[in-house]
Amino acid sequence: MKILNNIQLKSLNSFNISSYAKYFAEFSSEIDLVALLKHNLLSKEKLFILGGGSNILLTKNIDGLLIKNAIKGIKIIEENDNHLIAEVGAGENWHDFVKWSIKQNVSGIENLALIPGSVGAAPIQNIGAYGMEVKDTVEKVCYIDIQSLEKRTLINSECKFNYRNSIFKNDLKNKIIITKVVFKLNKKHANNYKYGVIEEELNIANQKPTLENIFNTIISIRTKKLPDPKVIGNSGSFFKNPIINNSKFNNLKKKYPDIIGYTSGKNQIKIAAGWLIEKAGWKGYTCGDAGVHKNQALVLVNYENASGKEILDLSKRIQKSILEKFEIIILPEVNII
Ligand code: EPU
Repeated sequence: MKILNNIQLKSLNSFNISSYAKYFAEFSSEIDLVALLKHNLLSKEKLFILGGGSNILLTKNIDGLLIKNAIKGIKIIEENDNHLIAEVGAGENWHDFVKWSIKQNVSGIENLALIPGSVGAAPIQNIGAYGMEVKDTVEKVCYIDIQSLEKRTLINSECKFNYRNSIFKNDLKNKIIITKVVFKLNKKHANNYKYGVIEEELNIANQKPTLENIFNTIISIRTKKLPDPKVIGNSGSFFKNPIINNSKFNNLKKKYPDIIGYTSGKNQIKIAAGWLIEKAGWKGYTCGDAGVHKNQALVLVNYENASGKEILDLSKRIQKSILEKFEIIILPEVNII
Protein backbone atom coordinates (compact mmCIF):
# COMPACT_ATOMS: atom_id res chain seq x y z
CA MET A 1 0.00 0.00 0.00
CA LYS A 2 1.65 3.16 -1.23
CA ILE A 3 1.13 6.70 -0.04
CA LEU A 4 1.38 9.03 -3.02
CA ASN A 5 2.14 12.75 -3.04
CA ASN A 6 0.34 15.63 -4.68
CA ILE A 7 -2.33 13.69 -6.55
CA GLN A 8 -4.73 15.30 -9.05
CA LEU A 9 -8.31 14.38 -8.09
CA LYS A 10 -10.13 15.37 -11.31
CA SER A 11 -10.75 11.77 -12.34
CA LEU A 12 -11.72 10.76 -8.79
CA ASN A 13 -14.75 13.04 -8.41
CA SER A 14 -17.81 12.92 -10.67
CA PHE A 15 -17.95 16.75 -10.82
CA ASN A 16 -14.55 16.54 -12.63
CA ILE A 17 -13.22 19.34 -10.48
CA SER A 18 -9.49 19.91 -10.49
CA SER A 19 -8.08 19.70 -6.98
CA TYR A 20 -5.00 18.12 -5.42
CA ALA A 21 -4.53 15.91 -2.39
CA LYS A 22 -1.30 16.45 -0.49
CA TYR A 23 -1.19 12.69 0.24
CA PHE A 24 -3.30 9.91 -1.24
CA ALA A 25 -3.65 6.17 -0.63
CA GLU A 26 -6.12 3.42 -1.55
CA PHE A 27 -7.06 0.56 0.75
CA SER A 28 -8.59 -2.71 -0.41
CA SER A 29 -9.03 -4.55 2.89
CA GLU A 30 -9.84 -3.85 6.53
CA ILE A 31 -6.25 -4.78 7.43
CA ASP A 32 -4.87 -2.17 5.00
CA LEU A 33 -7.32 0.38 6.33
CA VAL A 34 -6.24 -0.17 9.94
CA ALA A 35 -2.58 0.04 8.86
CA LEU A 36 -3.31 3.39 7.19
CA LEU A 37 -5.17 4.70 10.22
CA LYS A 38 -2.13 3.81 12.37
CA HIS A 39 0.29 5.48 9.95
CA ASN A 40 2.54 8.05 11.64
CA LEU A 41 1.74 10.57 8.87
CA LEU A 42 -1.61 11.01 10.61
CA SER A 43 0.10 12.38 13.71
CA LYS A 44 0.59 15.60 11.77
CA GLU A 45 -1.77 15.37 8.78
CA LYS A 46 -5.56 15.48 8.70
CA LEU A 47 -7.51 12.47 7.40
CA PHE A 48 -10.04 12.70 4.54
CA ILE A 49 -12.12 9.82 3.18
CA LEU A 50 -13.23 9.24 -0.39
CA GLY A 51 -15.81 6.72 -1.58
CA GLY A 52 -17.07 6.74 -5.15
CA GLY A 53 -16.47 10.50 -5.40
CA SER A 54 -19.96 11.06 -6.75
CA ASN A 55 -21.41 13.06 -3.92
CA ILE A 56 -18.72 15.61 -3.18
CA LEU A 57 -17.87 19.10 -4.33
CA LEU A 58 -14.18 19.89 -3.93
CA THR A 59 -13.79 23.61 -3.33
CA LYS A 60 -10.14 23.51 -2.27
CA ASN A 61 -7.09 21.28 -2.25
CA ILE A 62 -7.01 18.49 0.32
CA ASP A 63 -4.43 19.47 2.90
CA GLY A 64 -3.82 16.06 4.43
CA LEU A 65 -4.06 12.34 3.67
CA LEU A 66 -6.98 11.35 1.46
CA ILE A 67 -7.80 7.66 1.56
CA LYS A 68 -9.98 5.92 -1.02
CA ASN A 69 -12.10 2.93 -0.19
CA ALA A 70 -11.43 0.10 -2.66
CA ILE A 71 -12.73 -2.85 -0.60
CA LYS A 72 -14.30 -5.16 -3.16
CA GLY A 73 -16.30 -8.38 -3.20
CA ILE A 74 -19.89 -9.58 -3.29
CA LYS A 75 -20.57 -12.67 -1.18
CA ILE A 76 -23.86 -14.53 -0.70
CA ILE A 77 -23.95 -15.32 3.00
CA GLU A 78 -27.45 -16.79 3.25
CA GLU A 79 -30.20 -17.86 0.90
CA ASN A 80 -33.66 -19.31 1.41
CA ASP A 81 -36.96 -19.44 -0.51
CA ASN A 82 -37.71 -15.79 0.23
CA HIS A 83 -34.42 -13.95 0.52
CA LEU A 84 -30.84 -13.70 -0.53
CA ILE A 85 -28.46 -12.04 1.90
CA ALA A 86 -25.34 -10.55 0.34
CA GLU A 87 -22.31 -8.98 1.97
CA VAL A 88 -20.77 -6.35 -0.28
CA GLY A 89 -17.44 -4.51 -0.05
CA ALA A 90 -17.94 -0.76 0.43
CA GLY A 91 -15.65 0.00 -2.53
CA GLU A 92 -17.81 -1.89 -5.03
CA ASN A 93 -19.45 0.28 -7.67
CA TRP A 94 -23.14 0.71 -6.81
CA HIS A 95 -24.53 0.13 -10.30
CA ASP A 96 -22.41 -3.02 -10.74
CA PHE A 97 -24.01 -4.38 -7.58
CA VAL A 98 -27.51 -3.53 -8.89
CA LYS A 99 -26.65 -5.39 -12.13
CA TRP A 100 -25.49 -8.37 -10.05
CA SER A 101 -28.82 -8.40 -8.15
CA ILE A 102 -30.75 -8.52 -11.45
CA LYS A 103 -28.61 -11.47 -12.59
CA GLN A 104 -29.46 -13.23 -9.32
CA ASN A 105 -33.13 -12.46 -10.03
CA VAL A 106 -33.65 -10.73 -6.66
CA SER A 107 -35.50 -7.50 -6.05
CA GLY A 108 -35.14 -4.45 -3.81
CA ILE A 109 -32.61 -2.21 -5.53
CA GLU A 110 -33.63 -2.39 -9.22
CA ASN A 111 -35.13 1.13 -9.15
CA LEU A 112 -31.78 2.43 -7.89
CA ALA A 113 -30.02 1.50 -11.14
CA LEU A 114 -27.41 3.89 -12.52
CA ILE A 115 -27.03 5.93 -9.34
CA PRO A 116 -23.36 6.89 -9.40
CA GLY A 117 -21.14 6.10 -6.43
CA SER A 118 -20.01 3.24 -4.28
CA VAL A 119 -21.86 0.65 -2.19
CA GLY A 120 -20.38 2.11 1.02
CA ALA A 121 -21.77 5.55 0.23
CA ALA A 122 -25.31 4.25 -0.42
CA PRO A 123 -26.43 3.99 3.24
CA ILE A 124 -24.75 7.27 4.23
CA GLN A 125 -27.28 9.37 2.39
CA ASN A 126 -29.88 6.60 2.04
CA ILE A 127 -29.89 6.82 -1.76
CA GLY A 128 -33.31 6.73 -3.31
CA ALA A 129 -35.07 6.99 -6.65
CA TYR A 130 -38.39 6.13 -8.27
CA GLY A 131 -40.14 5.16 -5.07
CA MET A 132 -37.36 2.98 -3.65
CA GLU A 133 -34.81 3.76 -0.94
CA VAL A 134 -31.76 1.72 -0.01
CA LYS A 135 -32.85 1.64 3.66
CA ASP A 136 -35.46 -0.96 2.76
CA THR A 137 -32.83 -3.55 1.82
CA VAL A 138 -29.91 -2.69 4.10
CA GLU A 139 -29.62 -5.33 6.80
CA LYS A 140 -26.36 -4.24 8.45
CA VAL A 141 -23.57 -1.72 7.98
CA CYS A 142 -20.04 -2.72 9.09
CA TYR A 143 -17.46 -0.07 9.85
CA ILE A 144 -14.18 0.71 11.55
CA ASP A 145 -14.07 3.38 14.21
CA ILE A 146 -11.31 5.84 13.30
CA GLN A 147 -10.35 6.56 16.92
CA SER A 148 -10.50 3.12 18.54
CA LEU A 149 -9.81 1.13 15.32
CA GLU A 150 -12.52 -1.27 16.46
CA LYS A 151 -14.76 -3.10 14.03
CA ARG A 152 -18.44 -2.43 14.63
CA THR A 153 -21.75 -3.34 13.01
CA LEU A 154 -25.04 -1.47 13.05
CA ILE A 155 -28.31 -3.18 12.25
CA ASN A 156 -30.86 -1.36 10.10
CA SER A 157 -32.83 0.19 12.97
CA GLU A 158 -29.62 1.63 14.48
CA CYS A 159 -28.74 3.43 11.24
CA LYS A 160 -31.49 6.06 11.82
CA PHE A 161 -32.39 6.14 8.16
CA ASN A 162 -34.51 8.96 6.85
CA TYR A 163 -34.96 10.80 3.54
CA ARG A 164 -31.37 11.34 2.28
CA ASN A 165 -30.16 10.97 5.84
CA SER A 166 -28.75 8.52 8.39
CA ILE A 167 -26.62 8.29 11.53
CA PHE A 168 -23.58 8.31 9.20
CA LYS A 169 -24.34 11.92 8.19
CA ASN A 170 -24.89 12.95 11.81
CA ASP A 171 -23.54 11.32 15.03
CA LEU A 172 -20.98 9.19 13.18
CA LYS A 173 -19.90 11.79 10.62
CA ASN A 174 -16.09 11.77 10.17
CA LYS A 175 -15.77 9.19 12.96
CA ILE A 176 -16.02 5.92 11.06
CA ILE A 177 -15.21 4.25 7.74
CA ILE A 178 -17.77 1.88 6.26
CA THR A 179 -16.14 -1.35 5.11
CA LYS A 180 -19.06 -3.65 4.19
CA VAL A 181 -22.80 -3.45 3.74
CA VAL A 182 -25.10 -6.45 4.13
CA PHE A 183 -28.25 -6.42 1.98
CA LYS A 184 -31.41 -8.51 2.23
CA LEU A 185 -32.79 -8.88 -1.28
CA ASN A 186 -36.13 -10.42 -2.13
CA LYS A 187 -36.95 -13.43 -4.27
CA LYS A 188 -40.48 -12.05 -4.50
CA HIS A 189 -40.23 -9.08 -6.83
CA ALA A 190 -41.36 -5.66 -5.61
CA ASN A 191 -42.68 -4.62 -9.05
CA ASN A 192 -42.47 -1.02 -8.00
CA TYR A 193 -43.28 0.65 -11.31
CA LYS A 194 -46.13 3.04 -10.56
CA TYR A 195 -43.79 5.91 -9.79
CA GLY A 196 -43.59 8.76 -12.27
CA VAL A 197 -42.76 7.85 -15.80
CA ILE A 198 -41.79 4.17 -15.36
CA GLU A 199 -45.25 2.82 -16.15
CA GLU A 200 -45.61 5.18 -19.09
CA GLU A 201 -42.27 4.06 -20.57
CA LEU A 202 -43.12 0.37 -20.07
CA ASN A 203 -46.44 0.90 -21.86
CA ILE A 204 -44.81 2.70 -24.77
CA ALA A 205 -42.36 -0.19 -25.17
CA ASN A 206 -45.21 -2.67 -24.68
CA GLN A 207 -43.32 -4.38 -21.86
CA LYS A 208 -44.48 -6.18 -18.73
CA PRO A 209 -43.21 -4.82 -15.39
CA THR A 210 -40.71 -7.60 -14.78
CA LEU A 211 -37.58 -7.09 -12.69
CA GLU A 212 -35.36 -6.82 -15.73
CA ASN A 213 -37.73 -4.55 -17.68
CA ILE A 214 -38.06 -2.15 -14.74
CA PHE A 215 -34.26 -2.10 -14.35
CA ASN A 216 -33.76 -1.37 -18.08
CA THR A 217 -36.51 1.26 -18.11
CA ILE A 218 -34.91 3.13 -15.20
CA ILE A 219 -31.59 3.09 -17.06
CA SER A 220 -33.25 4.49 -20.15
CA ILE A 221 -35.13 7.21 -18.18
CA ARG A 222 -31.99 8.29 -16.31
CA THR A 223 -29.85 8.25 -19.44
CA LYS A 224 -32.31 10.50 -21.25
CA LYS A 225 -32.82 12.93 -18.40
CA LEU A 226 -29.65 13.10 -16.34
CA PRO A 227 -26.21 14.10 -17.60
CA ASP A 228 -23.59 11.34 -17.73
CA PRO A 229 -20.81 12.39 -15.30
CA LYS A 230 -18.25 10.93 -17.71
CA VAL A 231 -19.34 13.54 -20.28
CA ILE A 232 -20.55 16.48 -18.17
CA GLY A 233 -19.28 16.68 -14.59
CA ASN A 234 -22.08 16.53 -12.02
CA SER A 235 -23.07 15.00 -8.74
CA GLY A 236 -26.71 14.05 -9.36
CA SER A 237 -29.17 16.11 -7.36
CA PHE A 238 -27.21 18.96 -5.85
CA PHE A 239 -29.97 19.87 -3.37
CA LYS A 240 -32.35 17.83 -1.24
CA ASN A 241 -36.07 18.25 -1.82
CA PRO A 242 -37.23 20.53 1.03
CA ILE A 243 -40.00 19.44 3.38
CA ILE A 244 -42.55 22.05 4.43
CA ASN A 245 -45.83 21.94 6.39
CA ASN A 246 -49.29 21.67 4.82
CA SER A 247 -50.36 25.23 5.53
CA LYS A 248 -47.26 26.72 3.91
CA PHE A 249 -47.81 24.39 0.96
CA ASN A 250 -51.46 25.44 0.62
CA ASN A 251 -50.47 29.11 0.64
CA LEU A 252 -47.87 28.51 -2.06
CA LYS A 253 -50.39 26.47 -4.06
CA LYS A 254 -52.71 29.51 -4.21
CA LYS A 255 -49.92 31.56 -5.75
CA TYR A 256 -48.38 28.75 -7.84
CA PRO A 257 -51.14 26.23 -8.72
CA ASP A 258 -48.67 24.00 -10.59
CA ILE A 259 -46.26 23.59 -7.62
CA ILE A 260 -45.19 19.94 -7.18
CA GLY A 261 -45.31 18.37 -3.72
CA TYR A 262 -45.75 14.88 -2.30
CA THR A 263 -47.12 13.97 1.12
CA SER A 264 -44.20 13.06 3.35
CA GLY A 265 -45.35 12.11 6.81
CA LYS A 266 -47.96 13.81 8.92
CA ASN A 267 -48.68 17.42 7.99
CA GLN A 268 -45.59 17.50 5.79
CA ILE A 269 -45.08 17.95 2.06
CA LYS A 270 -41.88 17.26 0.17
CA ILE A 271 -41.49 19.86 -2.56
CA ALA A 272 -39.72 19.12 -5.84
CA ALA A 273 -36.70 21.42 -5.56
CA GLY A 274 -36.16 20.98 -9.32
CA TRP A 275 -39.53 22.64 -9.88
CA LEU A 276 -38.67 25.54 -7.52
CA ILE A 277 -35.32 26.10 -9.26
CA GLU A 278 -36.88 25.92 -12.72
CA LYS A 279 -39.70 28.29 -11.67
CA ALA A 280 -37.10 30.76 -10.38
CA GLY A 281 -35.62 30.82 -13.89
CA TRP A 282 -32.38 28.89 -13.35
CA LYS A 283 -32.91 25.84 -15.59
CA GLY A 284 -30.22 25.79 -18.29
CA TYR A 285 -28.44 28.81 -16.77
CA THR A 286 -24.66 28.95 -17.23
CA CYS A 287 -21.96 31.10 -15.71
CA GLY A 288 -18.60 30.27 -17.26
CA ASP A 289 -18.31 26.50 -17.12
CA ALA A 290 -20.69 26.15 -14.16
CA GLY A 291 -24.36 25.64 -14.87
CA VAL A 292 -27.80 24.29 -14.07
CA HIS A 293 -28.68 21.29 -16.21
CA LYS A 294 -31.13 21.95 -19.04
CA ASN A 295 -33.31 18.86 -18.37
CA GLN A 296 -33.24 18.65 -14.56
CA ALA A 297 -32.74 21.87 -12.61
CA LEU A 298 -31.78 19.99 -9.43
CA VAL A 299 -28.51 18.98 -11.06
CA LEU A 300 -25.63 21.46 -11.18
CA VAL A 301 -23.00 20.79 -13.81
CA ASN A 302 -19.38 21.47 -14.64
CA TYR A 303 -19.19 21.79 -18.43
CA GLU A 304 -15.41 21.64 -18.45
CA ASN A 305 -13.17 23.61 -16.18
CA ALA A 306 -15.41 25.15 -13.55
CA SER A 307 -13.81 25.29 -10.12
CA GLY A 308 -15.54 23.91 -7.04
CA LYS A 309 -15.77 27.49 -5.77
CA GLU A 310 -17.68 28.56 -8.93
CA ILE A 311 -20.18 25.71 -8.51
CA LEU A 312 -20.55 26.58 -4.82
CA ASP A 313 -21.11 30.28 -5.62
CA LEU A 314 -23.79 29.33 -8.16
CA SER A 315 -25.47 27.05 -5.60
CA LYS A 316 -25.55 29.90 -3.08
CA ARG A 317 -27.12 32.26 -5.62
CA ILE A 318 -29.80 29.63 -6.31
CA GLN A 319 -30.46 29.09 -2.59
CA LYS A 320 -30.82 32.85 -2.09
CA SER A 321 -33.24 33.24 -4.97
CA ILE A 322 -35.41 30.30 -3.80
CA LEU A 323 -35.53 31.81 -0.32
CA GLU A 324 -36.54 35.20 -1.70
CA LYS A 325 -39.16 33.87 -4.11
CA PHE A 326 -40.75 31.06 -2.10
CA GLU A 327 -39.44 31.59 1.46
CA ILE A 328 -38.08 28.04 1.35
CA ILE A 329 -34.58 27.01 2.37
CA ILE A 330 -33.04 24.40 0.09
CA LEU A 331 -30.00 22.56 1.41
CA PRO A 332 -27.22 20.82 -0.54
CA GLU A 333 -27.32 17.07 -0.76
CA VAL A 334 -23.66 16.85 -1.78
CA ASN A 335 -20.79 17.07 0.70
CA ILE A 336 -18.90 20.29 0.27
CA ILE A 337 -15.21 20.03 1.09
N1 EPU B 1 -39.20 19.00 -12.01
C1 EPU B 1 -39.37 20.22 -12.64
N2 EPU B 1 -38.26 20.83 -13.14
C2 EPU B 1 -37.02 20.29 -13.05
C3 EPU B 1 -36.86 19.05 -12.40
C4 EPU B 1 -37.96 18.42 -11.87
O1 EPU B 1 -40.47 20.74 -12.75
O2 EPU B 1 -36.08 20.91 -13.55
C5 EPU B 1 -40.38 18.30 -11.53
C6 EPU B 1 -40.64 17.03 -12.35
O3 EPU B 1 -41.38 17.29 -13.49
C7 EPU B 1 -41.36 16.13 -11.39
C8 EPU B 1 -40.79 16.56 -10.04
O4 EPU B 1 -40.18 17.83 -10.22
O5 EPU B 1 -42.71 16.35 -11.42
C9 EPU B 1 -39.81 15.57 -9.47
O6 EPU B 1 -38.76 15.37 -10.40
P1 EPU B 1 -38.00 13.98 -10.53
O7 EPU B 1 -38.97 12.86 -10.67
O8 EPU B 1 -36.95 14.15 -11.57
O9 EPU B 1 -37.36 13.77 -9.12
P2 EPU B 1 -36.57 14.74 -8.15
O10 EPU B 1 -37.39 14.92 -6.92
O11 EPU B 1 -36.13 15.96 -8.86
C10 EPU B 1 -35.46 12.75 -6.92
C11 EPU B 1 -34.09 12.36 -6.46
C12 EPU B 1 -33.27 11.85 -7.63
C13 EPU B 1 -33.98 10.65 -8.24
C14 EPU B 1 -35.37 11.13 -8.69
C15 EPU B 1 -36.20 10.02 -9.30
C16 EPU B 1 -33.66 13.86 -4.59
C17 EPU B 1 -32.84 15.00 -4.07
N3 EPU B 1 -33.42 13.50 -5.85
O12 EPU B 1 -35.28 13.84 -7.81
O13 EPU B 1 -32.04 11.38 -7.11
O14 EPU B 1 -33.28 10.13 -9.33
O15 EPU B 1 -36.09 11.65 -7.54
O16 EPU B 1 -36.84 9.30 -8.32
O17 EPU B 1 -34.45 13.29 -3.84
C18 EPU B 1 -29.81 12.06 -6.69
O18 EPU B 1 -30.09 11.99 -5.49
O19 EPU B 1 -28.66 12.36 -7.09
C19 EPU B 1 -30.85 11.81 -7.66
C20 EPU B 1 -30.66 11.99 -8.96
